[in-house]
Amino acid sequence: MSGLDFDGDYGRQYRQRIRLSIPAYDAVLELGAAALAAKTPTARQVLVVGPGAAEELPGLLQAMPMARFTLLEPSGQMAEFCRQQIASLHAISRCSLQQQSLAGSGFDPEGFDAVVCHHVLHLLPPQQQQQDLASMLSQLAPGGCLLLSSYSEPSGQENDPSLLEIIKARLRMLGMDEATLELFLSGRNKVVFSLAEELIQQQAQASGCAPPQVLLRAMFNGLWLIQRPAT
Ligand SMILES: C[S@@+](CC[C@H](N)C(=O)[O-])C[C@H]1O[C@@H](n2cnc3c(N)ncnc32)[C@H](O)[C@@H]1O
Repeated sequence: MSGLDFDGDYGRQYRQRIRLSIPAYDAVLELGAAALAAKTPTARQVLVVGPGAAEELPGLLQAMPMARFTLLEPSGQMAEFCRQQIASLHAISRCSLQQQSLAGSGFDPEGFDAVVCHHVLHLLPPQQQQQDLASMLSQLAPGGCLLLSSYSEPSGQENDPSLLEIIKARLRMLGMDEATLELFLSGRNKVVFSLAEELIQQQAQASGCAPPQVLLRAMFNGLWLIQRPAT
């Protein structure tokens, strides 16, 4: 359960606002799709956790042309946006949308060739981040890849005033008013939680995967690729 209201105004305005709140949002989706096109081009089964309005779907469909997609989206409103996106991409035959969260989902023991989780883990407190990360890694078939993006403050720099100043300047230049800016920043560690880089490394190691590859860093936004060795 997230502190952001995906079934209300926040969710309704998500597609208009997300590029304001997340730096390099489109670059994350573009590089993520390219990474899977390079690593798992013949993927058959792909899991997408928290697609929201499924802005990532066009790139994923193109990157893995033989894949079928299982999409897990717990919010009713976001699931409806996702359904509309699937239809507009003529991808109904390749997609199965389930209105539920990752926790409690039952999956094929053969696993997935790719698991994609863009901008979801920072909605969860650290303990649940750990559980969901372990769960997603456990779903990877041999040779499979987890693609992960999240808000993640580099450790030790949580209150770096210089970085925060740049973030504030960016939001002002993109037109955010001062009241919204303060509200946005006050959500840190209350409605959004930094995903620790160390946790990603520990979980990758504990599940027998290769060390995470950092594909992008844009201020506090990050993109990682983790691959399970082929057996
Ligand atoms: C910030 S949006 C990201 C949407 C999309 N992946 C993107 O990058 O634009 C997060 C989405 O994750 C969903 N979500 C929240 N908690 C979840 C969970 N535990 N499992 C799966 N999805 C979850 C929310 O309902 C929301 O639609």
